[in-house]
Amino acid sequence: MAIISSSLDESNNPRSRKELRIVDSSTIAEENTNKNLNSARPKSFKEFIGQEQIKSSLRIAIEASTLRNEVLDHILLYGHPGLGKTTLASLIAYEMETKCRVVSAPSIERPRDIVGLLLGLKEGEILFIDEIHRLNKLTEEILYSAMEDFRLDLTMGSNKGTRCRSINLSKFTLIGATTKLASISAPLRDRFGMCHKIEYYSNDELHQIILNFSKLLNICLENQACLTMAKISRGTPRLALRLLKRVRDYAQVIKKTDKVSLDIVQNALKSQKIDNKGLDHLDRKFLSYLNQNCHIPVGLDSIAAGLGEDSSMLEFLVEPYLIQIGFITRTTRGRLLTTLGQTYINSQNEK
Ligand SMILES: Nc1ncnc2c1ncn2[C@@H]1O[C@H](COP(=O)(O)OP(=O)(O)O)[C@@H](O)[C@H]1O
Ligand SMILES: [Mg+2]
Repeated sequence: MAIISSSLDESNNPRSRKELRIVDSSTIAEENTNKNLNSARPKSFKEFIGQEQIKSSLRIAIEASTLRNEVLDHILLYGHPGLGKTTLASLIAYEMETKCRVVSAPSIERPRDIVGLLLGLKEGEILFIDEIHRLNKLTEEILYSAMEDFRLDLTMGSNKGTRCRSINLSKFTLIGATTKLASISAPLRDRFGMCHKIEYYSNDELHQIILNFSKLLNICLENQACLTMAKISRGTPRLALRLLKRVRDYAQVIKKTDKVSLDIVQNALKSQKIDNKGLDHLDRKFLSYLNQNCHIPVGLDSIAAGLGEDSSMLEFLVEPYLIQIGFITRTTRGRLLTTLGQTYINSQNEK
């Protein structure tokens, strides 16, 4: 069936060949792939840097279920894009020595899509549903009994001759991933035995992640260059990897070298109009827009309309970092520039 992808390979994404913005809407989807990038995914919990508490609780759950010879409880992973939800799902499958079937919720359109998926699972296998908050109601209802009792409760036929049929399923583990926990209905959320929030990474963790990526990509990276990239990766491994690849392009094409020094990183970032805080032109446009309306909270939809951008992209990819570094605040009435943000954007305008 078309909606099933039996491996964690990502599809080619031509958008990524365009000029880099540190974040853009393609970041919501999986990063593009090539041989190098596929091999850049951690292969074990040990290679998966950070998130120690989540790894430790997953290790215990995996060991306990193996000891009892039971299927692993359903797991819900939530957090911003690029923090490692899909990677963690693949690692859980790896640790459980089982297969992981990957599907994105919007592609499960009809009841028969989810029924086919569930019937295709063998004992102990994992079904990974990405963007699980986007499941439609019918699919969600089919999942309730499948998750709780490993049973499909189906209603068949027309009004006159409606029949109910139950089909037993092989015991499986559902891993759901979402960027919007609040959009998941309570009945679905309650059926997950574990729920983990993937947090942003510290600079030290990103430093380690970039170092590991650079080894996999055969890049000779100076320590200061690595530290600088870690600082501007917005706490997000996917962005760190993306930056590293663009810096490598710059080093190879413009400087004709495979050695990446601090100087090369700084020049590469300048050529992409990314500043030393990791902010790109969209961040600056966002801040400038708020600056023009300073002292008044501005709704996200107005900002999106003013900038000609998609509001959910701004909400997930631009705002979180600006909030994290204290440049904007989110109030019930809208977004507000802080004094820190104002000082920054005024200094940029003076340049
Ligand atoms: N903790 C981590 N350690 C090393 N690499 C990571 C980690 N988390 C994510 N990555 C890398 O970052 C990229 C994005 O991760 P992914 O799992 O696709 O994020 P998400 O599914 O949350 O959007 C992948 O290339 C992955 O290998
Ligand atoms: Mg993902």
